[in-house]
Amino acid sequence: MVTLQPLLFLCLLIEGALGGQWAAWMPQTISALQETCVAIPCTFDYPEELRPSSVHGIWYFNSPYPKNYPPVVLKSKTSTAHESYQGRTKFLGELQQKNCSLQIDRITTEIQGKYYFRADLGGYNQYTYSEHSILEMLDKPLVLSPAEILVDSEVELTCLVPDNCPSMKPSLSWLGVEGLRQHSVFGRLEEDSGTWTVLSLLRFLPSQKDNGHRLGCKVSYPDTVLEYQRFLTLDVKHAPKIVEVNSSLETTEGAHVVLVCVVDSNPISQVTWLKYETILKEEASGNLTLELDNVSNSHDGVYTCVAENEYGRVNKSLGLAVMYAPWKPTMNSSALVVEDESVTILCSTQGNPEPIMSIVKEKEVLKTVVYESEILLEIPLVTHEDDGEYWCTAENQYGHSNSSFNLTVEFAPIFLPDSKCTTGRDSVQCICVVKSNPESSIVFELPERNLTLNESDRGLVYSQRSGYTISSVLSLRGEVDSEVLVFCSATNRYGTKMEELQFQSHSSQLWAKFGPVGAVFAFVILIAVGGYMIKTRKKETINESSSFIQPENPPVAFSSEYKTQKNLEKSENEFHSISDKILLNQKERFSDLDVNYANIDFTRLCAKDGYTPTEELAEYAEIRVK
Ligand SMILES: *[C@@H]1O[C@H](CO)[C@@H](O)[C@H](O)[C@H]1NC(C)=O
Ligand SMILES: *[C@@H]1O[C@H](CO)[C@@H](O)[C@H](O)[C@H]1NC(C)=O
Ligand SMILES: *[C@@H]1O[C@H](CO)[C@@H](O)[C@H](O)[C@H]1NC(C)=O
Ligand SMILES: *[C@@H]1O[C@H](CO)[C@@H](O)[C@H](O)[C@H]1NC(C)=O
Ligand SMILES: *[C@@H]1O[C@H](CO)[C@@H](O)[C@H](O)[C@H]1NC(C)=O
Ligand SMILES: *[C@@H]1O[C@H](CO)[C@@H](O)[C@H](O)[C@H]1NC(C)=O
Ligand SMILES: *[C@@H]1O[C@H](CO)[C@@H](O)[C@H](O)[C@H]1NC(C)=O
Ligand SMILES: *[C@@H]1O[C@H](CO)[C@@H](O)[C@H](O)[C@H]1NC(C)=O
Repeated sequence: MVTLQPLLFLCLLIEGALGGQWAAWMPQTISALQETCVAIPCTFDYPEELRPSSVHGIWYFNSPYPKNYPPVVLKSKTSTAHESYQGRTKFLGELQQKNCSLQIDRITTEIQGKYYFRADLGGYNQYTYSEHSILEMLDKPLVLSPAEILVDSEVELTCLVPDNCPSMKPSLSWLGVEGLRQHSVFGRLEEDSGTWTVLSLLRFLPSQKDNGHRLGCKVSYPDTVLEYQRFLTLDVKHAPKIVEVNSSLETTEGAHVVLVCVVDSNPISQVTWLKYETILKEEASGNLTLELDNVSNSHDGVYTCVAENEYGRVNKSLGLAVMYAPWKPTMNSSALVVEDESVTILCSTQGNPEPIMSIVKEKEVLKTVVYESEILLEIPLVTHEDDGEYWCTAENQYGHSNSSFNLTVEFAPIFLPDSKCTTGRDSVQCICVVKSNPESSIVFELPERNLTLNESDRGLVYSQRSGYTISSVLSLRGEVDSEVLVFCSATNRYGTKMEELQFQSHSSQLWAKFGPVGAVFAFVILIAVGGYMIKTRKKETINESSSFIQPENPPVAFSSEYKTQKNLEKSENEFHSISDKILLNQKERFSDLDVNYANIDFTRLCAKDGYTPTEELAEYAEIRVK
């Protein structure tokens, strides 16, 4: 191709020269860099029969007609030229040999245009050929680059410069190629319709970092100061790359989280933040920030940054773990069960990390599970002792919470060991302490006396309730055989229980405690104290001090050590007045029995069976997770 074209052109010229017609051959366009020179190759012909004695020629600028007085580029006959061409033009060949080649030096913008040749064969044989050359001036070399430069696929850039002046040969070089991968440069000369072009081909493998890089092609002419450069900026297309994204992280509830995704791509990518399949934010950008304000457990999950342009798609994911204290556990609502049934208590919560959960009753840890959000307590056979308040606690390093649940157990009556009879000098007190749910009705039975007494027998029987415990006291005054049989029977909907109340003499109990020596010692002290008291407080009677030794109205064993409460005093007084009235009415019936009121402090029983305050329960032994 390259070698064929000049041959073809030569053939055309030779053929023309042999034609013997008015005709000329020259390139249609020819170009040169500013300040360089150009040689327009040219041949012409004329009818053979003319046989001119001399052959002259004129080159005109921009017009073929001498009538228009176009600027004369060069006139062979007089070797004259228009002032703008003076000293800049010369014929290169012999006009006699039909060679009209013209050289123009120091090309400037003003002399761009059409160049016409007129043959002057003497006389009227003058002819301006319509064939002409258009001269173009370039101020820089031309650089051709492919429409698209893709990363990692070899690219070829071409720098072109016209080479149409044999006296000034251009030399090409590339600027800024040092960092290019696998770069190489080839030179080439090309001919097209009689004009010549020097090419320099730069081949390299573009990388992502070459995007935006400036490359230049430089033309210089040896032995001159002329130098021309053309630069271009590389536009290397590449698929997106996520150059920066947060790694998985842990955060706590309420935090402000900023996630950053920095993308390098050409052209710019569509960047998206996703949580699973849901699009949270989308933008054509090199840098997409996702802000999460006041994070809660609902923000927990996997976040993905996706970047996409027409050259590819990439993504990177990160996990966001939101840590939080366990929520208030949810438990069964309070339940009522009957003894011997089974019961299941379920407690569930939510926390991150999964908490340690426990079920606690009265400070006793019944069950613990570690790193779970649910705890199940099964009681296959419920007893009355299972009744009470259960606390479910959940804890992790971010906090703890708890909930309570009340289990109400219904059960048949149970006699408590406090049930007994106590004899005084002229009275008997029988106490029957029963625990049951629902409350039992208590009946005292004295089969030998053919007596059945309950609370309705006011003055004789007095009851006090505390929790599931009912304490009923039967007070009999007068001489009572200590061998009398007293039964207590308790009934609720789950059954009836009956128990014989055992007699305990108050005095024997006291002496048994201290022994004879202790008793004597105590007696001596008491006498001394009593004597002192008589001295200081003359109002006191001897009866009071002696009543300790032989109390008229002995207190029930457990009662004396407790302080009398105000409300109890009140009930005692009421009780006393009622019992006196009953006594009047019933004097004949209970001829040999006298009824007295009880001096019993029930607070002890209350304390025994009362509920433990809930706050205390919550302070169960801590188990910490780290
Ligand atoms: C015209 O003359 C020049 C200079 O001598 C020469 O280089 C060129 O080849 C000639 N052209 C033809 C067609 O012979
Ligand atoms: C995510 O990364 C950016 C940039 O490195 C940083 O500024 C920001 O704090 C990070 N976010 C979190 C929650 O760590
Ligand atoms: C944070 O969110 C919680 C519920 O998710 C809300 O109760 C609280 O008021 C919020 N705090 C702020 C500062 O918005
Ligand atoms: C992320 O890329 C992986 C493989 O490169 C692909 O399986 C996954 O579907 C992509 N995820 C998203 C959200 O585009
Ligand atoms: C507590 O709830 C669980 C599940 O809902 C249930 O299986 C169980 O029987 C409930 N227990 C009580 C006492 O209601
Ligand atoms: C359980 O019983 C206690 C005492 O009777 C009470 O203070 C508490 O509120 C009850 N709890 C529930 C969950 O009903
Ligand atoms: C008790 O009373 C019943 C009838 O009320 C009577 O049949 C019985 O004989 C009496 N027993 C005694 C020991 O008085
Ligand atoms: C006491 O006994 C009488 C007769 O036995 C009965 O009618 C009454 O309901 C009983 N009262 C109580 C409080 O149990």
